[in-house]
Amino acid sequence: MALLRPLFLVLLLGITMPLLFFSRTEAAEVGVSYGRVANDLPQNQGSVVDLLKQNGITMVRIYDAFPDVLTSLANTGIKVMVMMPNENLAAAASDPSNALQWVQTNVQAFYPATLINGVAVGNEVFDSRPDLNSVLVPAMTNVQAALAQLGLADAVKVSTPVAFDALQTSYPPSQGSFKDELVPVMKSMLDFLQRTGSYLTVNIYPFFAYYDSLTTPNPISLDYALGNSGAAAVLDDNTDVTYTNLLDAQLDATYYAMEGLGFTSVSLHTTESGWPSHGKPNHGKPPSEVRRGGRRLLDSAADQDTAASVANAQAYNNNLINRVLAGRTGTPHRPDADMDVYIFALFNENGKGDADDTESNFGLFYPNETKVYSFDFQGTGAPPLPPRQSWCVANAAVGDARLQEALDYACGNGADCSAIQPGGSCFQPDTVLAHASYAFNSYYQNKGRASGTCNFNGAGSIVYQEPTGTCSAPVSWCVANAAVGDARLQTALDYACSNGADCSAIQPGGACFQPDTTASHASYAFNSYYQHNYRASGTCDFSGAGSIVYQQPSEFIAHPLAPAPALVDSLSLRPARSPGVTDS
Ligand SMILES: *[C@@H]1O[C@H](CO)[C@@H](O)[C@H](O)[C@H]1NC(C)=O
Repeated sequence: MALLRPLFLVLLLGITMPLLFFSRTEAAEVGVSYGRVANDLPQNQGSVVDLLKQNGITMVRIYDAFPDVLTSLANTGIKVMVMMPNENLAAAASDPSNALQWVQTNVQAFYPATLINGVAVGNEVFDSRPDLNSVLVPAMTNVQAALAQLGLADAVKVSTPVAFDALQTSYPPSQGSFKDELVPVMKSMLDFLQRTGSYLTVNIYPFFAYYDSLTTPNPISLDYALGNSGAAAVLDDNTDVTYTNLLDAQLDATYYAMEGLGFTSVSLHTTESGWPSHGKPNHGKPPSEVRRGGRRLLDSAADQDTAASVANAQAYNNNLINRVLAGRTGTPHRPDADMDVYIFALFNENGKGDADDTESNFGLFYPNETKVYSFDFQGTGAPPLPPRQSWCVANAAVGDARLQEALDYACGNGADCSAIQPGGSCFQPDTVLAHASYAFNSYYQNKGRASGTCNFNGAGSIVYQEPTGTCSAPVSWCVANAAVGDARLQTALDYACSNGADCSAIQPGGACFQPDTTASHASYAFNSYYQHNYRASGTCDFSGAGSIVYQQPSEFIAHPLAPAPALVDSLSLRPARSPGVTDS
């Protein structure tokens, strides 16, 4: 057993080291706003969470803290911003214990299994509950104090989504300013956000500015509003800066408005942006109910009839998603800004207006969970991004009988199941669950991770972090970095070969002895070690001499490695065979 000790240590280090490796500042992220003002949405929140996962959506904003949603999001890796409803604000502002209790019930009870990363204190308060303007910042302050008291203030940021019409002037962007009557509350809010390291959250809809402009002498061009490339640029005369899309202009107007109040370092996140696929604003509403922040929406221009369309919604939302995925969330005025964005909305919501009202047609999905148009949260069509990896794993919860059925299906329909046969390199651990995960993933990868190929009637789930502790067909490899020099490579090579890598093939006369270079031998040994340890985090480090790659290196294609997992099994890092499980 003495031989095993160093390997075990490395595995333990692997568990603690990711913190070091991932301490870079977080890049901007794109998610969805999940509103539920409707009577026909899926009742089962687990199926909504599956929908998010299947579509690679890693961040969601909800308009309450509905326990079923928060429970269903547990252990998914999906981040969620919860909301304290406007109705709670007065109590939370006047009574710190009320805010504390709210945070305990709606945040602490779910965190960290559910990755709550923000509390929106109210939504569009200035428009929908202006009577609460004066209690807004006191409520935020008490929620923040409650989070701090519970040790959650670093993980969970407090903000309040503000509608874009909080701005009095938004064009040209450099003249951006808040409405006079909001200046006192905005000042104290921005002061709060700056002190707490939070961000101003804004709901921004180029659609409405575009729509309104169509009846003015200066209509905005559709390409500019949609963020299409090649739109005619618009000049800000004051700064001589040109804008190529309306969203940038609106964001910069907001940055300038903050600067006008003396806040130069608070960043912006977009808690809502989107484009309706059908309808007209305020369709069917009597003038007394027409609100959207007092915007006057006058229908008359012909282009207004086609402003909300599937094609336009698809263009706007995909442009925005791709922009964030590509890391291009800066603006002409703030080129380096990181900005999280939530696309509004996950579903069409029939409670927001009649069927021909744009409000009820912002969804990416119909209530029956089919897409209104195609979109992609994984960067297809976006400028260079590393390919996003995903894996298919078996859900233990469906039970062995269903897993076995799906396992048989996968193995009979394209999965390579040779490794999970008795004697195969992934036969251990010999459980239906482990074999099903292996087969599902093989099937999924072989089908090019096409949509629907990790379903198995609910027995399979897509994950975006490489599963550890299961034997699976390689989807990543460990190679040597020649740049560290032969001396360091040799040290790491010796370590790998004496700690579990199968190095017989790189001995003189072995199948992989040629090319006889330290770098080539090190790549072979590093990869053997890495695969042997189930590609656990930290097992391709070798003090910087190893790198993970996601395309099979050509030198490995000739002799794909299938190291026997017996050594790691003997360390009992994974559950032993469950009682009563028969061989598959
Ligand atoms: C889902 O609903 C939409 C809109 O009602 C409809 O067009 C579509 O055919 C439905 N899809 C399925 C699979 O039922």
